[in-house]
Amino acid sequence: MAPYLFLCLFPFFPHLYASFSSSGSHSCSSLIQFKDSFSITEVASLYCDEIAGLKSYPKTNSWKEGTDCCSWDGVTCDHLNAHVIAVDLSCSWLYGNFPSNTTLFLLPHLQKLNLAHNDFNQSKIPSEFGGFTSLFYLNLSYTGFAGEVPSQVSYLSKLVSLDLSCWADEQFTIDKHALEGLVHNLTEVRHLFLDRMDMSSVNAHVFMNLSSSLRSLSLAYCDLQEKFPKNIFDLPNLNLLNLGGNPNLNLDPLKFNRSSNLEHLDLSWMSFSTDFIDSIDNLQALKYLDLSGNSFFQGLSFSITNLSSLEYLILRLANVFGGLPDSMGNLVSLKLSGPVPRSLGNLLQLTHLDLWQNQLSGQIPRSLGNLLQLTHLDFAEPIEWANSIVNSKPNAAGILGNIWKFF
Ligand SMILES: *[C@@H]1O[C@H](CO)[C@@H](O)[C@H](O)[C@H]1NC(C)=O
Ligand SMILES: *[C@@H]1O[C@H](CO)[C@@H](O)[C@H](O)[C@H]1NC(C)=O
Ligand SMILES: *[C@@H]1O[C@H](CO)[C@@H](O)[C@H](O)[C@H]1NC(C)=O
Ligand SMILES: *[C@@H]1O[C@H](CO)[C@@H](O)[C@H](O)[C@H]1NC(C)=O
Ligand SMILES: *[C@@H]1O[C@H](CO)[C@@H](O)[C@H](O)[C@H]1NC(C)=O
Ligand SMILES: *[C@@H]1O[C@H](CO)[C@@H](O)[C@H](O)[C@H]1NC(C)=O
Ligand SMILES: *[C@@H]1O[C@H](CO)[C@@H](O)[C@H](O)[C@H]1NC(C)=O
Repeated sequence: MAPYLFLCLFPFFPHLYASFSSSGSHSCSSLIQFKDSFSITEVASLYCDEIAGLKSYPKTNSWKEGTDCCSWDGVTCDHLNAHVIAVDLSCSWLYGNFPSNTTLFLLPHLQKLNLAHNDFNQSKIPSEFGGFTSLFYLNLSYTGFAGEVPSQVSYLSKLVSLDLSCWADEQFTIDKHALEGLVHNLTEVRHLFLDRMDMSSVNAHVFMNLSSSLRSLSLAYCDLQEKFPKNIFDLPNLNLLNLGGNPNLNLDPLKFNRSSNLEHLDLSWMSFSTDFIDSIDNLQALKYLDLSGNSFFQGLSFSITNLSSLEYLILRLANVFGGLPDSMGNLVSLKLSGPVPRSLGNLLQLTHLDLWQNQLSGQIPRSLGNLLQLTHLDFAEPIEWANSIVNSKPNAAGILGNIWKFF
């Protein structure tokens, strides 16, 4: 009875048949061979837990030869024909050289590949990656790949998301032609993360023709040179822009468009020295702003109050001559160095206050005791401050309860 029923189902549920067919098991043995080229060690994904805040564990431990790989942890198949279409081995403790002839390349239907936060021991990215022509998501961030990114990555013209961010010590580089190809061919790209890739030999102008679908562009610490194309700031869907840590990049005069949907802007450590961001007032959707490490000789020339959506303001080691404005909007998080504005006590929604490397010479604003939502507080000279808060306001008890958590 049961076998008969099974056969009868095939015309209606072809995927049932396909998952038992031989095309599926080929892919399974390719995956096993891929996994076997690495050793499994927790340190390979250490920073996954520590920095990305994700849980790492050896996903491939559940991969057993002779079982259907469509059910393995990190593997997704197309229901219709049992092709492996997604492999997510991010944070999976993989360690070892990445073989350029790996059987992973025998999975031509792959649409999503995430190998982030493993350690491929300074291997080069094999040019064969360019053969994954169905890929729309590729994430090789923090994988210990090193050397030059092969120009074949630009063949992946369906990519919607590409993350090749790396550690500073990996000397991951990309040359002018590869980057030009990438910008030219990736017409669908929405999320592009290339943090810390060495672009010192490339003119930042190359990013001019990026897809108008772009939502995230992250080029932190890339050693970008010359002028950044202005039109990027006008991209209607741009939500995240991180250009932090590029002191040689020429941005000014910076004009933000009123119709901008930018929510996350990082322009830290750019060595600006003028009031280059007048038009930041236009960014009505802005929630996160990092201007650490810059100098503002005429104070902050924009009005934080006018940034009605701003929640996170980070000004670590910024020189703000003329101090901060008295009114500071609706911040929930503030990371400051430099003088502490009195109006801090007006930020009733504040949950994170970080006064890292502050010169705490002046008076502690008594109003700090108003910040009853505060759950995170960091500052340099804790004990004196804690005492001052105790002495400054009877209702400081709420904040104090939180302070002691940090010592
Ligand atoms: C990592 O790379 C070093 C230097 O190239 C090499 O000696 C070592 O065998 C590699 N380790 C693994 C596990 O591949
Ligand atoms: C890859 O090449 C190495 C030698 O370069 C060889 O030992 C290994 O069997 C090859 N693997 C595959 C899957 O072809
Ligand atoms: C890449 O993967 C890591 C780990 O899963 C994740 O934190 C990161 O957001 C991913 N990047 C993109 C662009 O999806
Ligand atoms: C764009 O991709 C196609 C294949 O998808 C490739 O033949 C071509 O060389 C690529 N162009 C650039 C500029 O990289
Ligand atoms: C951008 O595209 C235009 C029109 O296709 C072209 O003339 C220009 O050279 C491109 N610029 C860059 C930097 O690739
Ligand atoms: C603002 O951006 C839109 C497209 O998003 C563009 O049409 C318009 O010219 C821009 N305005 C300014 C002042 O740059
Ligand atoms: C705040 O924005 C309004 C218009 O929305 C403008 O009239 C005013 O000048 C701005 N204030 C500052 C200090 O920029």
